[in-house]
Amino acid sequence: MAHVSNLIAEDIEQYLEAHQHKGLLRFITCGSVDDGKSTLIGRLLYESKMLFADQLAALEADSKKVGTQGGALDFALLVDGLAAEREQGITIDVAYRFFSTDRRKFIVADTPGHEQYNRNMVTGASTADVAILIVDARKGLLTQTRRHSYIVSLLGIRHVVLAINKLDLVDYSKDVFDRIVDEYRALAAQTSIAHVVAIPMSALNGDNVTVPSERTRWYHGPTLMAYLETVEIGDDAAQSGAFRMPVQWVNRPNADFRGFSGRVVGGTLRRGARVRVLPSGRESTVERIVTFDGDLEQAVTGQSITVTLTDEIDISRGDMLCAADAPASVADQFEANVVWMSDEPMLPGRKYLMKLGAKTVGLSIGPLKYKVNVNTMERLPAKTLELNEIGVCNLHVDQGIAFDAYQENRDTGGFIIIDRLSNATVGAGMLHFALRRSQNVHWQALEINKDARARLKGQTPAVVWLTGLSGAGKSTIANLVEKKLHALGRHTYLLDGDNVRHGLCMDLGFTEVDRVENIRRVGEVAKLMVDAGLIALVSFISPFRAERETARGLVADGEFVEVFVDTPLAVAERRDPKGLYKKARRGELKNFTGIDSAYEPPENPELHIDTTKLTPEEAAEKIVAYLCEDQRRDSGGVRS
Ligand code: ADX
Repeated sequence: MAHVSNLIAEDIEQYLEAHQHKGLLRFITCGSVDDGKSTLIGRLLYESKMLFADQLAALEADSKKVGTQGGALDFALLVDGLAAEREQGITIDVAYRFFSTDRRKFIVADTPGHEQYNRNMVTGASTADVAILIVDARKGLLTQTRRHSYIVSLLGIRHVVLAINKLDLVDYSKDVFDRIVDEYRALAAQTSIAHVVAIPMSALNGDNVTVPSERTRWYHGPTLMAYLETVEIGDDAAQSGAFRMPVQWVNRPNADFRGFSGRVVGGTLRRGARVRVLPSGRESTVERIVTFDGDLEQAVTGQSITVTLTDEIDISRGDMLCAADAPASVADQFEANVVWMSDEPMLPGRKYLMKLGAKTVGLSIGPLKYKVNVNTMERLPAKTLELNEIGVCNLHVDQGIAFDAYQENRDTGGFIIIDRLSNATVGAGMLHFALRRSQNVHWQALEINKDARARLKGQTPAVVWLTGLSGAGKSTIANLVEKKLHALGRHTYLLDGDNVRHGLCMDLGFTEVDRVENIRRVGEVAKLMVDAGLIALVSFISPFRAERETARGLVADGEFVEVFVDTPLAVAERRDPKGLYKKARRGELKNFTGIDSAYEPPENPELHIDTTKLTPEEAAEKIVAYLCEDQRRDSGGVRS
């Protein structure tokens, strides 16, 4: 049977079904083309006799074309060919290859070895049982070896093969091999990698890939293939841990059947077992374990099943079924590792989405504790993560979710971060533990509420959010609005960018990260003011749509009045009341909005004020009129 192909996610499932009877090993190869990675993978596939005939014919033809010595096959070409194939179908830069031997079936995740590609490596490694680190015997350990080891350890891969390749170029020297192995053991000791096996190899000549080499008689360990076929991965934490199954969907074909479908991602489930549903905490007993091929007495990690319970309890997609006597934890604040995967930097304070298992929740990222230089494993202070950077921070989600520490279960402790606007995956992470305050700080329900406070003032609370360029006229207009409202007997408070930056936000500058945090804080303050029954006037550049939308989401529908103070850049620059545009143009002021920092105009503001047509007085009138109309509508008459 020939089974080499380049498949995408749905095909993986099919492939696995077809080979269910054999054990599966997932592994990742780390190294660069220069180290002989493509040659090694190509040879593994070739020597396991698992190539499709047409792929083989193409390989022979290509090898002739490039003129290899004596018409030998160039295995690197094989892998490169597959790489070209994958570019058409898969968006992430990870190629999955499949092959099987009589003993096991394999999925290889192959990722580009280039410095920039932490994100791909993380994607490829997140489900791997084994990592093969390829080292060029002539060069020894490189920075990249350290980086790969760090990521492998971060992702919880416990088995590493140190493939010391190109041994033919150092005369199959045992000394060279031993030296590299010693050096690597010292490196691995700094990580949580538990098992390291070093194999001397020449992928080019085939030494110790599938056939023990005559030229390394001093080596008594397994060939790479023998290792892959036999390595024990039974110590996998999830498999030996407690039962876990995120509910992918509720299967209700008719009134008589109600099952919960998903993949078992931890432990074993037996019929009759007691399960707890999280986050609700309700319990029931397993009635049936249903699969496509009939009912099971028990299901193990990796199997896709549908569970029916003896009780009618409320369970929805995204909930987690757990062993009742060893349930997962539920929390809404965590410490976690985050790997950033987007060209746009991570912005702590911005609202993202977190997807963990089948659950998607709102996510805020707290300030970074540190980032890690993956080449040295050093911890560095930082405010943000750029593409491919890795750091540790606290996370806050908008509802309690069931989880395990990543080290205990990669499926229930690993998550991805999604951008709300673009829906793109921008990061991935691993949960460490819940913060204790997550359990200990609760929202205090107060008896005197917003309505009671507002009633006393006889007004409808609101946030009037003025956004626009520096020098657009926001503060001038806001000031006039406040005077008018005050004259009408309204209780207001004006939050002004320059003023708030003297106190509450004095620690923040004008980088993207700091502006996001600035607006986050002001949004929260405005929310408290609305809760106090006030009309909060907010006058900030607030250049980013995402943060303005977040601020809008903090208050009730209709309470947020976005006012776009629209002044063309040229006009604002001509006015330049504080001389800042001049400074920015001279390069003395960095990150100036409109010059070298973006301004994203509102798309659907409640009010659009064109300051080239209206005087500040007229603009203020327009805003006050809008508010009064609003207040009339809400209260059936102007109250004062
Ligand atoms: S925001 O972008 O975070 O909303 P904010 O409204 O608080 O900005 O502050 C803007 C005020 O800070 C401007 O009116 C200007 O006086 C001053 N300022 C100083 N440096 C900058 C800069 N680089 N970009 C914009 N405004 C700046």
